[in-house]
Amino acid sequence: MTAQDISNQSAYVAARVERRWAILSIAIIVVLALLAAFAGIHQATMPQARVETANPTTLHLAGEFVESNLGSAVEPGGSVTVRAIGQQYSFTPQCMVVPTGTPITFRATSPDVIHGFLIQGTNINTMLVPGYISALPARFDRPGEHLMPCQEFCGVGHEGMWAKVKVIDKAEFLAMSADRRRLTCVE
Ligand code: CUA
Repeated sequence: MTAQDISNQSAYVAARVERRWAILSIAIIVVLALLAAFAGIHQATMPQARVETANPTTLHLAGEFVESNLGSAVEPGGSVTVRAIGQQYSFTPQCMVVPTGTPITFRATSPDVIHGFLIQGTNINTMLVPGYISALPARFDRPGEHLMPCQEFCGVGHEGMWAKVKVIDKAEFLAMSADRRRLTCVE
């Protein structure tokens, strides 16, 4: 074989190997895209295990989210339920108070547009969707304050929409709850 032949043969082998790898890398991309599509479509079409609704136009008139029922409530079993509303551009109550070492359920909704419900320093991060109740369990081990900035763009006042969660000692919380039906730390 001449040097020219060897060179031609090498070029041929190189082209073949290159083509194989190109096909393989495209196949990987196709498989990943199919996996992502399947996961997304599958999840989107599965109904949630539990959906609770609330009429966004009558929240303030009757039911669980009337103003006098917002805030923290001690349940008969000793757990605490915190009810809140996120609206353009504030949360009610603006300061939520919860005890340490207690199972807590946040229940919240929106009367207008989608808002974000995020408690900094915890894994609580959900959306408040008009018509639906967002319910999330929580537990706080240490006293302290957590900021709650709205994290869904909800209009011109979005960046000024925030609240806070104040975690206080359980004994102090129970003492506060002795003479009040609903607790907040709004001053
Ligand atoms: Cu409410 Cu952003």
